[in-house]
Amino acid sequence: MKILLVGSGGREHAMAWKLAQSPRLSTLLIAPGNAGTAEVGENVSISVDDHDALVRLAVEQGIDLAVVAPDQPIVDGLCDRLRNSGVTTFGPSAAAARIEGSKIWSDNLMTKYGIPTAESVAFSNSSVAMEYARSKPEGSLVVKADGLAAGKGVILPDTYDELDSAIIGMLDDAAFGESSSSILLAERMSGPEVSVFAFLDGEHVSAEIASCDYKRVGDGDVGPNTGGMGAYGPPEFWTDELATRIREDILEPAARALVLENSAFSGVLYAGLMITESGPKVIEFNCRLGDPEAQIMMPMLESDFLEICLAVAEGRLNEQEVQWSKNPHTFVVAVSDGYPGSYTTGVEIDGVEAAGKHGTVFHAGTARDTDGKLVTSGGRVLGVSGSGSSICESRDAAYQGLKRISFQGMQFRRDIAERAVQH
Ligand code: AMP
Ligand code: GLY
Repeated sequence: MKILLVGSGGREHAMAWKLAQSPRLSTLLIAPGNAGTAEVGENVSISVDDHDALVRLAVEQGIDLAVVAPDQPIVDGLCDRLRNSGVTTFGPSAAAARIEGSKIWSDNLMTKYGIPTAESVAFSNSSVAMEYARSKPEGSLVVKADGLAAGKGVILPDTYDELDSAIIGMLDDAAFGESSSSILLAERMSGPEVSVFAFLDGEHVSAEIASCDYKRVGDGDVGPNTGGMGAYGPPEFWTDELATRIREDILEPAARALVLENSAFSGVLYAGLMITESGPKVIEFNCRLGDPEAQIMMPMLESDFLEICLAVAEGRLNEQEVQWSKNPHTFVVAVSDGYPGSYTTGVEIDGVEAAGKHGTVFHAGTARDTDGKLVTSGGRVLGVSGSGSSICESRDAAYQGLKRISFQGMQFRRDIAERAVQH
């Protein structure tokens, strides 16, 4: 089968790596990909935003299955465009992707169908929002931009002053453009966080998998938010009982709700959850695999990923095996100096082959220079995914691998999965 994978990050390298293991694969194109995806398929230099060119490529190349990985093209309707052009596609419609693309739409859906989440109110006028905020205790609300904001659209203010600035920044100063022309003020929940993923083909929900990711740049969760510095799974607090509760109270009702709203979801649903004292509650839904979660999920997937994507796209997920390994996995990301602020690129990277003896190296911001040398081309550069019979073993494997890699200014967190080992 000829597959087209859309995206360029570490998640996409992990997906490409897994797709390439399928005996049914004949050709794998990745648009635009990175230096890692070029090792398992053929990169095509088309941006994820250039929907015309992507559809043309899929049609002209006779692609049997397109897999769209990142949120923005999904929310912007690329999967609809591909399907309307006759291309079998893994990934939700723009209508279904509103579950990520509009936090207000998603919150209304959860409220209507009784899916547990933070109590939230939507606003588009800053004075009204600030007045409402005063009716709640200081530090008890979070501010969320309605639309996509590259993972930066949530602010957790501790004081009324900070809350006011966040509201004014989003609504009046358009901090995130159109995405923050409406906001949600949500109850601030507390408890451990977990990302839970399942494949959906509309009504059917596959076996789920859980992991924890690290968003802050520094050890001990300090510093600014990033695209993700590492992940591990399964979480130390994960039990069959919790999994069943999440499935029955959140995943299955969400799938049903989307069908009932004429927005049946076909793809992978990502539930970002907080395990509160009164049970698991949704922080947010996403319409895609997580990054960096995919870099442990793909190695944990024991079934054929290509077959799963095809079964999802063709609405016969109930006939398809989806089996996850129970062996713990840890993934640690190496980033450029200065990230998530400004950083330099084109820095030579050494030791990737040696790292591969300890774990699987997944590239994100990498490229080949004119001499064919591997160089950095982004903030999150690459990472190593380790596995083992315990979380401790998987963590050691990931860090042993990462220690073999070097580039000038390389930074990484030293505490990924530490809390799970200490547990
Ligand atoms: P999000 O972009 O929705 O994933 O939010 C980013 C982070 O903000 C989450 O991972 C949580 O740590 C935090 N967060 C979001 N919503 C809430 C909430 N209602 N209560 C507490 N923390 C939240
Ligand atoms: N792990 C965070 C994200 O993919 O949005």
